[in-house]
Amino acid sequence: MTNFDLNLPTQIRFGKKREEEIGSILTQDNITRILFVYGTSSIKSTGLYSRIISILDEYKIEVVEYSGIRPNPLVIDVDRASELGRKSAVQAVLAVGGGSVMDSAKAIAVGIAHKQKIWDFYNGSQIKKALPIYNIVTLAATASEMNGGFVLTNSETKEKLSLKSELTKPKVSILNPELTFTVPPNYTAYSAIDIFAHTIEGYLTSTKSPSFINLLKESVIKTVKDKTELILINPQDYNARAEFMWAATMALNGTTNLGLDGAQFPNHMLEHGVGSIFNIPHGAGLSIVIPAWMRWYKDNNRPQFLRLFKEIFNKESLDEGIEAVENWFHSLGSPIRFSEYNIEESSFKSISEKAYKQAQMWGIDKTYTKEVIMEILLLAK
Ligand code: NZQ
Ligand code: ZN
Repeated sequence: MTNFDLNLPTQIRFGKKREEEIGSILTQDNITRILFVYGTSSIKSTGLYSRIISILDEYKIEVVEYSGIRPNPLVIDVDRASELGRKSAVQAVLAVGGGSVMDSAKAIAVGIAHKQKIWDFYNGSQIKKALPIYNIVTLAATASEMNGGFVLTNSETKEKLSLKSELTKPKVSILNPELTFTVPPNYTAYSAIDIFAHTIEGYLTSTKSPSFINLLKESVIKTVKDKTELILINPQDYNARAEFMWAATMALNGTTNLGLDGAQFPNHMLEHGVGSIFNIPHGAGLSIVIPAWMRWYKDNNRPQFLRLFKEIFNKESLDEGIEAVENWFHSLGSPIRFSEYNIEESSFKSISEKAYKQAQMWGIDKTYTKEVIMEILLLAK
């Protein structure tokens, strides 16, 4: 096991009805004015929006709202919301939604504190402060509720990039699995694939992976695979949604990536390249690039690939294993080739340029040159 640091400052409140505690949580923290950030429509149609508003009203917490955060959230929304939050002198940001809303809330918390455009930080400015961030999670996938990462898309420069800071780790995240009952089958599938991706990135790329971590990761994947099946049959299966939700958090809250040697996130680098140009769901982008990346990379870490395929898919060979991954993704209704989204080879050059920028930011550019990225993309055409 390699040395590691772990800082998990986020308080998790997990279980039924826990969102009702948001008023008392904010009051205890002496917060009297918040910026309430949410997406396009889901929290209004489920009734969650009015419930939260009445709780905040009961606790006399002033609410400034910013709505309309889209999947693959945009810089323009973050800058607008930061401006609003600054003018209204809010003390904290409350996100109610999935990864896109939670990621935006982090960026907004930075933008308000710095009085600066958010893209400056993607170009090297240091994050030195951020307002406190509170989440009520409605979609389990990214673990944004317990990590410091946030991914934004800049529609002007056509870039989707991720940034992280210790200062953007949320203060409190409320996870009530019931709030995910309405997540539709397609997003349940994309979420399962995203969690799978978060788990295998370090598992397959590390030169050494402690057996304890291997077992934890295999537990995350088996849980998600089994529970996804149950959720697709009965979206209101509380226990399946609950285990899925906590597995999602565990997959990227830091705990399952400890003590690894040389872990990298190449599939996310590739997906960010795709997402820079095409607005497709994160999990769908991953389900296209993962099998291609596996075919390109498999011989670099045969024992770990074979272990994954045996443990999860009961397959004995690399080729059978990769096919089993593809079949699983397809059975969930997610694409495994660019052609399924009508994304043509003519776009691969720009995708590889965008992905390469992410590779540089993450320091994995020596392996993943633009030419190598092209080679992998061609395996998914
Ligand atoms: O906008 P609304 O109306 O809320 O609809 C959303 C959205 O259309 C809907 N939804 C959310 N909760 C729902 C619901 N629909 C019905 N019932 C509910 N309870 O679902 C759609 C997708 O939401 P989104 O937040 O985009 O999904 P997800 O949580 O998968 O987030 C994806 C974003 O997170 C980034 C991705 O790149 C992408 O931008 N990531 C963030 C990471 C992090 N912070 O660590 C890591 C990840 O690897 C990922 O890159
Ligand atoms: Zn992801």
